[in-house]
Amino acid sequence: MKLLLENIKELVQVEDEPFDFRAGKEMATVKTIKNAYIIIRDEIIEDFGPMSALKDRYRDDDLLIEIDCSNRLVYPSFCDSHTHLVYPAPREKEFVDRIKGLTYEEIAKNGGGILNTAKRLHEMSEAELYNDAMHRVIEVIKMGTGAIEIKSGYGLNVEDELKMLRVNRWIRETAPICVRSTFLGAHAIPLEYKNNPSKYVDIIINEMIPQVVAEDLADYIDVFCDKGFFSVEDTERILMAGIKHGLRPKIHANELGLTGGVQVGVKYNALSVDHLEFIGKEEIEALKDTETMPTVLPGAAFFLGMKLSPVREMIDAGLPIALASDYNPGSSPSGNMSLISAMGCIKYKMLPEEVINATTINSAYAMGLHESYGTIARGKIANMFITSEMPGIEYLPYSYGSNLVETVILNGEVQSF
Ligand code: NIG
Ligand code: FE
Repeated sequence: MKLLLENIKELVQVEDEPFDFRAGKEMATVKTIKNAYIIIRDEIIEDFGPMSALKDRYRDDDLLIEIDCSNRLVYPSFCDSHTHLVYPAPREKEFVDRIKGLTYEEIAKNGGGILNTAKRLHEMSEAELYNDAMHRVIEVIKMGTGAIEIKSGYGLNVEDELKMLRVNRWIRETAPICVRSTFLGAHAIPLEYKNNPSKYVDIIINEMIPQVVAEDLADYIDVFCDKGFFSVEDTERILMAGIKHGLRPKIHANELGLTGGVQVGVKYNALSVDHLEFIGKEEIEALKDTETMPTVLPGAAFFLGMKLSPVREMIDAGLPIALASDYNPGSSPSGNMSLISAMGCIKYKMLPEEVINATTINSAYAMGLHESYGTIARGKIANMFITSEMPGIEYLPYSYGSNLVETVILNGEVQSF
């Protein structure tokens, strides 16, 4: 099957020479082709270029679908490298508690928050969780996401963590997008281990990790290394055990304080360190010239009214930045990557080009997927979206709250909803 998109007003984020991610000044570079075409064969991007170079031979074949993209832009699908979208129920009551003045940490201390979600997850079957989560997967696909990471972390015991990861596997097997699965047994300390967290860490290390790996349920291992959650020492123990079993770290770090999360992530060659509201000079130095992608989650900072990560400072210091949604019921109940893009520009003073890199190639890198996703490149998987009529790349983050994603193509197939 062949697909030809033609008369594309602007084909965005094209890649001629392969690269892993964009950092520092380079983040402001996005290569585009005006008045372009793109050819997709089966699930692969075969060719692209300016309309003037479109050879007639492409039109000879049978089984060719032509789509006229006049006045429309084509982007590679968003890559969302940090979500918790398998969960049992929303937490809108806590939302109101926070409006009335309670903090996220206070709610968590009173048995709300992550522990509340864990209690409800325990009562749900794999099939119920799958059905709910698939609604969210379809929702984000419609909004342009084409590759996504999903964490466990609402199980907090062996059986329920495995249940969550099996749901991830089920989604990966049945949804049209690429799914990466992360084991986050160390998301919160269950109440019964409140006074003895290292006992829970032992369970993660001795029981959870071996079973997760035996069933091949995860690509990565995560720890919420922060004030009131897991200490640097516990994080090190968990990461070492994960690495021994072949799981590369991707960790929650520096959301609630200058806790050493970034440094421990870098020390264990984490693929990404995520959140990063509390970042000083030392953290920036630690991240320089490493393979660890600093990942910022604007939705969580916005929803919880937190201080903002110093993104400008990090980019100006030469670091790369990825942006992800953190889609979860407690701190960011949205997976809308166009909205995340708008927040990147509006709240973090990122340029539209920087935001495009942060939500495509850099976030693909943060899932280990940059060789197949995140740009328009020959040989990559044909995951992209066609916008509605719009003037140029600035318009997407400018029109915050709108969904300008009109047509979604995944694995070379136009999706119908
Ligand atoms: O990434 N920070 C830790 N974990 C999630 C929140 C999960 C929840 O509140 O349910 C986050 O923000
Ligand atoms: Fe998170």
